[in-house]
Amino acid sequence: MNRIASILLTAFALTLVIGCEPDLSKKTDAELGLNPQQAQGRHVYQSYCTQCHPAYSSSGNKGPRLKGMYKKEYLPSGLRAEDRFVEDVILHGKRMMPATHLGPDQLQDLIAYLHTL
Ligand code: HEC
Repeated sequence: MNRIASILLTAFALTLVIGCEPDLSKKTDAELGLNPQQAQGRHVYQSYCTQCHPAYSSSGNKGPRLKGMYKKEYLPSGLRAEDRFVEDVILHGKRMMPATHLGPDQLQDLIAYLHTL
């Protein structure tokens, strides 16, 4: 096969793969393999965070994308991707992000869920 044809074929195959990416936000907690605490955290997330940070989309809405946030070393702001910094952002807000008032249990559930993104 010549080079151009193989490039075109690769591009086509990639389009198919991307186009068929399942919308994880429509999956149930069980389908996502969430344990009870993570599932609780998902509900907290959907109440307080989704409007600005869609959970599984690679593009943020009003805030930066959080997909895979703990898989990287740093948060978008440059802070280390560690629970203490994330908790601080959630409880106190950051520039355009408002503070969210959560109880200690809700916060821990939410953090557990964020680790699954
Ligand atoms: C009204 C919109 C809005 C809501 C609601 C919101 N955020 Fe944000 N978030 C933002 C914006 C805007 C930023 C970027 C802040 C900045 O300028 O650094 C951000 C940044 C972040 C960051 C990255 C912080 C860093 O240091 O880089 C995390 C983590 C985060 N948000 C998590 C959450 C979680 C979890 C919730 C739900 C409790 C939430 N956000 C709710 C808008 C929002």
